[in-house]
Amino acid sequence: MARARSRYVCSECGYETVKWLGKCPSCGCFGTINEEPVAVKSRGTGLSSQVMPQRLNEITTQTEDRTLTGLKELDRVLGGGLVSGSLTLVGGYPGIGKSTLLLQICQRLGEQGKKILYISGEESPRQIKMRADRLKIHTDMLKLLSETNMTAIENAINHEAADYVIIDSIQTVYMEEVTSAPGSVTQIREATSRLMHICKGRGISVIIVGHVTKDGSIAGPRVLEHMVDTVLYFEGDKTASYRLLRAVKNRFGGTNEIGVFEMTGEGLKEILNPSAYMLNDRPTDVSGTVVTCTLEGTRPLLIEIQSLVSFTSFNMPRRMSTGMDFNRVTILIAVLEKRAGLQLGSYDTYVNITGGMRITEPSLDAAVAAAIASSYRDMPIPADTVIFGEIGLTGELRAVSMAEKRVSEAARLGFKHCIIPRANLRDNFSIKGVKITGVSNVSELLYALQ
Ligand SMILES: Nc1ncnc2c1ncn2[C@@H]1O[C@H](COP(=O)(O)OP(=O)(O)O)[C@@H](O)[C@H]1O
Ligand SMILES: [Mg+2]
Repeated sequence: MARARSRYVCSECGYETVKWLGKCPSCGCFGTINEEPVAVKSRGTGLSSQVMPQRLNEITTQTEDRTLTGLKELDRVLGGGLVSGSLTLVGGYPGIGKSTLLLQICQRLGEQGKKILYISGEESPRQIKMRADRLKIHTDMLKLLSETNMTAIENAINHEAADYVIIDSIQTVYMEEVTSAPGSVTQIREATSRLMHICKGRGISVIIVGHVTKDGSIAGPRVLEHMVDTVLYFEGDKTASYRLLRAVKNRFGGTNEIGVFEMTGEGLKEILNPSAYMLNDRPTDVSGTVVTCTLEGTRPLLIEIQSLVSFTSFNMPRRMSTGMDFNRVTILIAVLEKRAGLQLGSYDTYVNITGGMRITEPSLDAAVAAAIASSYRDMPIPADTVIFGEIGLTGELRAVSMAEKRVSEAARLGFKHCIIPRANLRDNFSIKGVKITGVSNVSELLYALQ
C-alpha cells in the first residue's frame, strides 16, 4: 500500500489532516491548510530501545533548584523563581513588553553568577544594547546573538555553556531540515522540540518568547503549550500602562497567580499594591460607582465598578459592558427588574470595569447590581463600602470563596463597611475596623445601601 508522503497542517491551530481542505475543521479558518512533507524515519532494530521501568519508591527526589529573577511579581507567578533546567514560554501580543521583561531579569541572574545567552531573531545586538541602556542593564554575564538558524543557535549554546538561554522569538527561528516556511507550525514545533532536548539534556534553562496572533492564541498556536514546562501570558490594555502576567500552565507551581507590572520609560516596574493602584483617581459622592474585591488566583484585588443608567425614548434600550461578560450583565438587569422591582426597560444601561481590567469571577455580580441600582436611583454608595457576592437567578446572594481574605484586603486599604453574602457569615470571622453586613438577596442588598 502506498504510504502518504505529505500531510496537511493548519497554520493557525496546527490541526493535521491527510487531505487538503479549504476550511480547517478545528479552528474554522479558511485557506490556512498547507501541504507539508512527512520526514520518513527508519524503524531501527529495536535493540537499543530496551528500557526498564523504575519502582516509584526507588526514585530519589530533590527539591528543584530555583533562582530568583529579581522581579517579585514574576517570581510569584513562577511559584518561587525560575527552576533550573526548565523550558518556559512567554506569550503575548507584539509590543506588550516580553523582550523588556526578559532583558530585565538578566541583570539579577547575572549578579548571581549565571551565564545568560540572549538570542534574538528580531533585533540586532545594537538595538538590544540601546534597550539595555534604557533599562540600566549592565551585567557582564550577558551575551547577545542575532541569529535565526537553529543549527547555528545550537552550536552557540554548546559553545557558550550558558545557564540561561533566551530565544526571542520562536517565530523567527527556522530549521534547514524542515522544508516549510519560518514561522509555520511545523517549524515552530520542530524548533521547540529541539530546544527541549537541549534544555533537558544539558540542564540549561530555556525561555522562549512566542507572539500571540490576532485571535489570542500563540501563533503556531497551542502546539507549544504541551511541550514546555511553564506557559506565561503577558497581557494588558493598549491604553493602560499596567501589564498582567498570568501562568497558564506550570509544572512547578500553581497556575492561578498573577503578577502586575507597570510599563515605564525605565522598563517594567512591579506594582506590589495593585488594589491601591486600581483605585487611584476614584470619584466619590457620585452615583453609579462602587468598589468590589475579586480574587485573581489567591490574591485579592480591589477594583472599581461603574454603571450609567440613562433614560431612552427608543423601544430597545441599549446594554453595554466593558471588562465583564455582556450576557452576565443582561442577566443581572433581568434579576434587578424581576426581584427588586427596578424598571430598567426604558433605560440604557452601561457597565464598566475601570482600568481596562477583564474579570470573569462571578463574585462581581453584587457590585454590578449595586452600581446599576445606584445610578438608576441617582443615589451614591458611600465611598468606604466594598460589595461582593454572586447573584443567582432567583435573586439570592450566593457565598464566594475566601470572603475573609477579601474583607482583610478592603480593611487594609481603609474601607469601613463590607456588604457580603449572608452565607459567608458562617465562616465567623471579624476584621478590626470593618463593619460586615450579610445580605441574602438583591432586595436586601439594595435596602442595605439606602
Ligand atoms: N523609549 C521608550 N520609553 C518608554 N517605553 C518604551 C520605549 N521603548 C519602548 N517602550 C515600551 O516598550 C514596549 C515594547 O516592549 P517590547 O519588550 O519590545 O515588546 P515585545 O517584545 O513584547 O514585542 C512598547 O510598547 C513601549 O510601551
Ligand atoms: Mg520583542
